[in-house]
Amino acid sequence: MTEPGSPAGGRAGDGTLMRAVGFTEFGGPDVLRTVFLPVPSPGPGQVRVRVAATAVNPTDLAFRAGAHRSMPPGVEPPYVPGMDLAGIIDAVGDPPDGETAAAGMGDWAPGDRVMAAVSPWAPGGGAQAEFVVVAADALARVPEGIGLEAAATLPMNALTVRAALDQLALSPGQTLAITGAAGAVGGYAIQLASAEGLRVIADASPADGDLVRGLGARTVVARGPGVAQRIREVVPDGADALLDAAVMGPPVLSAVRDGGQLMAVRPFSGESERGITVSLVLVFHHLHEGGRLAALAGLAAKGTLSLRVADVLPAADAADAHRRFEAGGVRGRLVLTF
Ligand SMILES: NC(=O)c1ccc[n+]([C@@H]2O[C@H](COP(=O)([O-])OP(=O)(O)OC[C@H]3O[C@@H](n4cnc5c(N)ncnc54)[C@H](OP(=O)(O)O)[C@@H]3O)[C@@H](O)[C@H]2O)c1
Repeated sequence: MTEPGSPAGGRAGDGTLMRAVGFTEFGGPDVLRTVFLPVPSPGPGQVRVRVAATAVNPTDLAFRAGAHRSMPPGVEPPYVPGMDLAGIIDAVGDPPDGETAAAGMGDWAPGDRVMAAVSPWAPGGGAQAEFVVVAADALARVPEGIGLEAAATLPMNALTVRAALDQLALSPGQTLAITGAAGAVGGYAIQLASAEGLRVIADASPADGDLVRGLGARTVVARGPGVAQRIREVVPDGADALLDAAVMGPPVLSAVRDGGQLMAVRPFSGESERGITVSLVLVFHHLHEGGRLAALAGLAAKGTLSLRVADVLPAADAADAHRRFEAGGVRGRLVLTF
C-alpha cells in the first residue's frame, strides 16, 4: 500500500525518490506502507547499494510493534525497518578522510554483488529500501552461484551466531544446547557449531526433527516447557553452554552445567545460578565486520551453511510477510524484493 501523502510526482526510479517499506506509527502489520524517500548519496567510506532482496527478521516485527521507541538523533518517521540486504553497488563514495581509496574503501565498484547487515536505527533507516547507503567495511561479496534472495538471509543472523560462538569460546567435543533450533539463528548455530566439532543438542517440534537433525544436531529433544530437563537427560551433568534462540530465559538455566555458559539473544530477565556465566550477544557490535561476513558467505557457498528462503514477496507486501511471520511456523526467511 502506498503511504497517503507521498510527495506528488514521486516515482521510484526517477532518480530522486525511491520506494521503501516504512511506518510512521507503531502497531500491527497494517501500519506498514510503501513510502517514497529521497535516494541517499554515499558519503566518505560508504557505497550505495541498489537493494534486490532484504530479509524479514524478528527485530523488524519488534521495531514495527513499538519495542524500540527511543530513537537516536536523526532517526525520524517514516521509520524504515530491515537489517539484511543483498544487491548491487551502484555508487561509491570517497575514501574516509585521510585514507587512500585502497585502505578506506577496499576495491568496491559499481556492479559488485554484495550483502550486508545494517542498523535500522540510524539516520536514513534500515535495509528495506530500494537504495541503501552502507559502510564499505560492512560489505561482503555474494559468492558466485548464490542468488541475491538467498544471500539476503545470511548477514545478520550468521554474524550473530559467529559472535555468539566466539564469545562462548567452546572447544571441540564440548556440548552446546540450542533452543529455537529450527529458526534462523538456531539453524546457523547448529551448522557452525557442528562444523567446529561441538556436540549439538537441539530442540524441535515433531515436525522440525528431521530439519534440525539434517542441519547437524547430534541429539534432538522436544521443544517447549521442560526442555531443560530433557537436555539433562542427554547430558546428566548439564550442557557446557546453551544458546537460547527461543528466548526461554531463566527456565533453561538448569540445562547448563555448574560453571557453564548461557548465551542470550535478548536481555536475560533473571539471576544466574551455580556459577553460570550469562552473556548477551548483540549483533550491533558486529555490523562492520565485512571480512567475517565474507568468511560466512564462503561457508554458504561450500554448503556448510544453508541459506533457507521460506518465500519471496514484493516489498509492497511487507505487511503480509509480517503477518505470516508473526503467526509462527515459518521455516527459512521471508524475503522482500524491490
Ligand atoms: N541479540 C542479537 O543481536 C540478535 C540477533 C539476531 C536475532 N536475535 C533474536 O534471536 C531470536 C531468534 O531469532 P530467529 O531469527 O532465529 O527467529 P526465528 O527464525 O523465528 O526462530 C525462532 C524459533 O524459535 C521457535 N520457538 C518459538 N517459541 C519457542 C518455544 N517456546 N520453544 C522452542 N522454540 C520456540 C520458533 O518456532 P515457531 O516459528 O514455531 O514459533 C522458531 O523456530 C529472536 O528473538 C531475535 O530477535 C537477536
